[in-house]
Amino acid sequence: MDSRIKKLNERIALAHLGGGQERIDKQHSKKKLTARERIDYLLDEGSFEEIGVLVTHRTTDFGMDKEIYFGDGVVTGYGTVNGRLIYVYAQDFTVFGGALSETHAEKICKIMDMAVKVGAPIVGLNDSGGARIQEGVKSLGGYADIFYRNVRASGVVPQISAIMGPCAGGAVYSPAITDFTLMVENTSYMFVTGPNVVKTVTNEEVSSEELGGAYTHASKSGVAHKISANDIQCLEDIKKLLSYIPQNNRETPEKLVFKPNDEIREVLSDIVPENPNKPYDMHEVIAGIIDEDSFYEIHKDYAENIIVGFGRLGGRSIGIIANQPMFLAGVLDVKSSKKAARFTRFCDCFNIPLLVLVDVPGFLPGTDQEWNGIIVHGAKLLYALSEATVPRVTVITRKAYGGAYDVMNSKHIGADFNYAWPGAEIAVMGAKGASEIIFRREIAAAENPTEKLAEKEAEYAEKFANPYRAARRGFIDEVILPKNTRRKLIKTFSMLEGKQVESPNRKHGNIPL
Ligand code: COA
Repeated sequence: MDSRIKKLNERIALAHLGGGQERIDKQHSKKKLTARERIDYLLDEGSFEEIGVLVTHRTTDFGMDKEIYFGDGVVTGYGTVNGRLIYVYAQDFTVFGGALSETHAEKICKIMDMAVKVGAPIVGLNDSGGARIQEGVKSLGGYADIFYRNVRASGVVPQISAIMGPCAGGAVYSPAITDFTLMVENTSYMFVTGPNVVKTVTNEEVSSEELGGAYTHASKSGVAHKISANDIQCLEDIKKLLSYIPQNNRETPEKLVFKPNDEIREVLSDIVPENPNKPYDMHEVIAGIIDEDSFYEIHKDYAENIIVGFGRLGGRSIGIIANQPMFLAGVLDVKSSKKAARFTRFCDCFNIPLLVLVDVPGFLPGTDQEWNGIIVHGAKLLYALSEATVPRVTVITRKAYGGAYDVMNSKHIGADFNYAWPGAEIAVMGAKGASEIIFRREIAAAENPTEKLAEKEAEYAEKFANPYRAARRGFIDEVILPKNTRRKLIKTFSMLEGKQVESPNRKHGNIPL
């Protein structure tokens, strides 16, 4: 009997050693943790239960039958983060560079299937040289098995990918389908084809970091939702992200806590400048509304003209979408529309109410935008918000001009409650632009055109650059003082708790992609 236990223990010990001490040391020398160290750090102490520790690959080609590692380059299982169940896999770079074999893929699929059955998030820690070259199409099939499950799980359980090493070729498409991708600075990269292939095909000289490093994807492509300075920070970021999101699409959000005497925020009164052309930082408005230090920003360095992220309001997690007047005056463009649309879809999948803060001068003009399809991309946001059935509340802090007024969660596209601050300007366009068009002849014929323009501008502003026309029609439910915003929002979201919307019967809509 003892020898049987010994045999088991030996196998487990070998599995824990991955590709051996030398390769573990190499991993550490690159400032990377091993797969097991990452899982240990991510999960509550002692909560990890491994699945498939004794799995090995089945390949015999190229002498692979002599190179067997228990676990086959991926550690899979379940555990808890702050007491809540998650399923996790971590690729082990010390075993064949974390390359994905048929059995490696099967292990990942097994926990994905279980996560969907049980209803708990899936976290994937990626660190892999891609498809196991010795296995050929079997490993490609393994990737597709994972992609298929990613799609089936989408909108059912939250899926988070961390890129903590290489992630190239087909491997990129699992993270791309998941809800959030986090990348570690300097040690991770993602691309469909690497620098060598790029050089051969397009003659471009580019480093891995420049082509697909964390900063590139966080700022240029938007593929990464967050970047972290190192492995530990990345795992901390995942834990924090998990705290804002439910376990699955059936879970109802936690209740809001309203403290009647404690919700006035004077600080909100002085953020928006008198001069409508002067920028201000919408982060200050967000901080002024939500629970202290509770903002978790997504896509911070991408399309900075719109802010998206999670916050807590009276303890409840909400999704926030807000124009940012500090960048491009807060206009909507291709990138910001895509960013906000994707975030809206996530929140709507997982019952997270949406707060939309509006200060938008319109859509960004120009050939670049038009040729890159602003029409279709802007429509994504319009579509995503129109389709969202979670409680949706809007606050117009300043400008809401033109088509962007409609898109930014207007009453007309199904928002539940629309507030405006007293300085809000809800109009087809700014007073100057409007006057130049509709009073063109009058201004041209005037003795002093500049004076005339100013006079007409003031006339137009008096009539339209305010929230009252919209309020008279009920497009704005109430004009509120900035300092009362938090109080109003907590009451409004509480009131909307029981919201139910019947959607038309259809297979699925056809969002403009
Ligand atoms: N299949 C099988 N084994 C692989 C592999 C793969 N796709 N990628 C890496 N490995 C193995 C290497 O042979 C090496 O094995 P060893 O420890 O026995 O020497 C080990 O993993 C580590 O790889 P190494 O190249 O030493 O690490 P690195 O940090 O210098 O480079 C990569 C990492 C990912 C850039 C490099 O390994 C690479 O280019 N791999 C191939 C990528 C690829 O083309 N994948 C297939 C298409 S998706």
